[in-house]
Amino acid sequence: MLENVIQIDLKGAKPFFTDKEYAESVTDALSSLDTLLSGKGRGAEFTGWLNLPSQTEEKLISEIENLASEWKKIAEVVVVIGIGGSYLGAKAAIESLSHSFGLHLGNREWPAIVFAGQNLSGEYISELMDLLEKRESATIVISKSGTTTEPAVAFRIIKEHYEKKYGKTGTAKRVVAVTDSSKGALKSLSDTEGYKTFVIPDDVGGRYSVLTPVGLLPIAVAGFNIREMIAGAGRMETLCKKGGADNPVIRYAAVRNLLYGNGKKIEILVNYNPKLAYFSEWWKQLFGESEGKEGKGIFPASVNFTTDLHSMGQYIQDGERILFETVLSIGDADRDFEISANEDNLDGLNFLSGKSVEQCNKMAEIGTRLAHIDGGVPNIAITVERLNEFYLGSLFYFFEFACGISAYMLEINPFDQQGVEDYKKNMFALLDKPGFEQLAEKLRRRL
Ligand code: PA5
Repeated sequence: MLENVIQIDLKGAKPFFTDKEYAESVTDALSSLDTLLSGKGRGAEFTGWLNLPSQTEEKLISEIENLASEWKKIAEVVVVIGIGGSYLGAKAAIESLSHSFGLHLGNREWPAIVFAGQNLSGEYISELMDLLEKRESATIVISKSGTTTEPAVAFRIIKEHYEKKYGKTGTAKRVVAVTDSSKGALKSLSDTEGYKTFVIPDDVGGRYSVLTPVGLLPIAVAGFNIREMIAGAGRMETLCKKGGADNPVIRYAAVRNLLYGNGKKIEILVNYNPKLAYFSEWWKQLFGESEGKEGKGIFPASVNFTTDLHSMGQYIQDGERILFETVLSIGDADRDFEISANEDNLDGLNFLSGKSVEQCNKMAEIGTRLAHIDGGVPNIAITVERLNEFYLGSLFYFFEFACGISAYMLEINPFDQQGVEDYKKNMFALLDKPGFEQLAEKLRRRL
């Protein structure tokens, strides 16, 4: 398994296409892989992420680890400010690796990580400030452009709080910015205030940046092993770049595009471990912002099973047949619990005694997969051995690579996001930002 890092099983998808269709789609995926690696495809100036695992320097890793050790001494809480690609990778990794009830257990060795700037809720930021009043904290503010409204607003509020609490010099010890090497308000503000900065490389866009300081810094500050994560991604980099029709990344890209062409417009990423809920959010952003353009693209959705079998299960089994599922399966859970026998058997569960909760989970997974295939939902299964830093790193890289290939198969640019600008223009106009007066007038007439 380690050799291949991940396993991909297409048995559950094969009834939904012919061998000939599959062979053609693989040829298409291989040619898109060549385009991606040649650096001649659309948006090629943003493909620096392809080489991140093999080219991350020891100097950067040590610098990140040193900061994490420093902050461990001064902060009970670290706020990570960012949105979209400047937030979801770190959130996905930290949720996947953390104890589900760590915050309630207390006695943490590392700071608790909380997020800000990923919404514009007045209630959320007010409650965060309640926490920062009571706890010693530090803040990582992340924005490649350095001008995104949501994180900028959150940082303005936290900066003001820090300056009152710690003074300007104290604040400079507790704030680190991750941003462009030279452009943007965050960079100039950081230089003026003397904040330490980490650089997001020019050739890496937000949703492909989890293996830059955007993801690595918060993950290290949370106490996780970023070297292992880079090693896992590195193993996947070698595998993906090798290509070949049997390569998991080629098989995945080929099948999902083939299913899309056959009318399966929605891909649902399925997990059976609640710790992966935010991994799915990261995956949705990656594919949604990369592929959803020019009137094309698979709609990325997600469910957390078995929880959502009691909400979305009905639709998936029996609703409109426009869905396919990709199940992200973990080979072995780190911990498990055996179900005991009970003399009275009042709950009728003695048939489960001696079995573990994870065994039940696995049977739910297998049973659901078969039921959904029978119900007309093609199924792709992707399995990694464990949920740890190594395999998470490999999954991040795998899906980024698959996304690049898939988008090229659809003949779109995976690395821009013009569509995101429209809401921003309207919001600025409605908030009376100078320069947006005409648009504001037009919009208000429509209200
Ligand atoms: O993937 C992307 O490029 C976006 O989701 C960005 O990450 C997001 O809009 C935040 O941008 P920035 O890092 O410039 O604040």
